[in-house]
Amino acid sequence: MARKNRRNDGAGGDIASLVTQVSPAMRTFRRQMHQTPEVMFEEHQTAALIRGQLDRLGVAYLPAPSEAPTATIACIGDPQLPCIALRADIDALPITEATGAAYASTIPGRMHACGHDGHTAALLGAAAVFKKIERSLDVCVKLIFQPAEEGGGGAERLVRAGVMDGRLGPKPLAIFGLHGWPGIPLGKVATRPGPLLASTDNFSATFVGKGTHGAFPHLGRDPIVATCAAVLSLQQVVSRDTNPVESVVVTVGRITGGTAVNIIPPTATIEGTARTLTHQTRQAVQEAMRRRLAGVAMTHDVQLQFVWSEGYPPTVNTPEMADYVREVAKDTFGADAFVPAAAPSMGGEDFAYYLEKVPGCFTLIGLCPEGSTDCPGLHNPSFDFNDDALPVAIQLLVSLATQWTQRSGASPAKR
Ligand code: NI
Repeated sequence: MARKNRRNDGAGGDIASLVTQVSPAMRTFRRQMHQTPEVMFEEHQTAALIRGQLDRLGVAYLPAPSEAPTATIACIGDPQLPCIALRADIDALPITEATGAAYASTIPGRMHACGHDGHTAALLGAAAVFKKIERSLDVCVKLIFQPAEEGGGGAERLVRAGVMDGRLGPKPLAIFGLHGWPGIPLGKVATRPGPLLASTDNFSATFVGKGTHGAFPHLGRDPIVATCAAVLSLQQVVSRDTNPVESVVVTVGRITGGTAVNIIPPTATIEGTARTLTHQTRQAVQEAMRRRLAGVAMTHDVQLQFVWSEGYPPTVNTPEMADYVREVAKDTFGADAFVPAAAPSMGGEDFAYYLEKVPGCFTLIGLCPEGSTDCPGLHNPSFDFNDDALPVAIQLLVSLATQWTQRSGASPAKR
């Protein structure tokens, strides 16, 4: 692909050739990391691998905060300069790998099925490039290797520990992160201003009735029938309670209740997930669900126990930062390489917590090889991060930091 920013870095080579230089080692690292996947907050071996790479590069890192001991936060460049944060997630999933790759997971029931091994390798590759051009860097780059993206809210813990406000390393002016995306062709980069990913709240509703013999329903209060009515009523949160131009998902993924075909049980439960793209809709959906479930409970003369488990907020890109990513990507890879993401995805990301604190943008990187019609999706046991996307990811991360000052004028702090 075309790389236009053949900037001289003052270290005897341009950035693009430095990216080419570091990429093979990062491919090797990615495959090494792929073999020992660890899940939320258990990433001790993974953290040791990352710190080993940073040690090798001569990059110092901060002591990990006690609430996230497997996090690694490092800075390259003068901490007095404007700070730009770059984040990679490092955790794996509780899935048994089915890729058959030579470097497949060696830990049963654990797998890098979301490509966080690729994100980590890309950020380490960027670190290697930054280290080579450290003296000419006009920003301080803050590298965040974050644990527990998959459900553990590692980002929230790091935000609480001060990673965005200057208590844990310098306060960044902006933050950028990326995710490999199987639905986007290799070599392409996509994002959008505003919402990119959804909130990820979960809920459970238990209907407490009165158990009885299946032949004498009038002697009890049937929670199974209430549950069925509730599932149907919840469909109308999207179709009747939400503005049709807004995107909302309400999915009931589990129904439990009952022990035998001829017994009406005392309780039955539905559980599911609710996805929204704005804080306002998120609140409205929760209220609509409570109201509808309470109505169902009243109609069926059963009690309702409703639990709303707050997940990640929506991931909302700062419009100016999404514009910045677009311009940097076009300049770096050529105009055709940037694909505006037409619509958000209803998946979620804890990158959202950083974006609540500082401006920034989350970007999707194409993984699907040309001509391939069978690119396994994220969280699929056959998924594997495409190593050919590593140079793109490394180059993008590097460019986002190195083009900051030039594109934001003389006073980046005023952005
Ligand atoms: Ni992921």
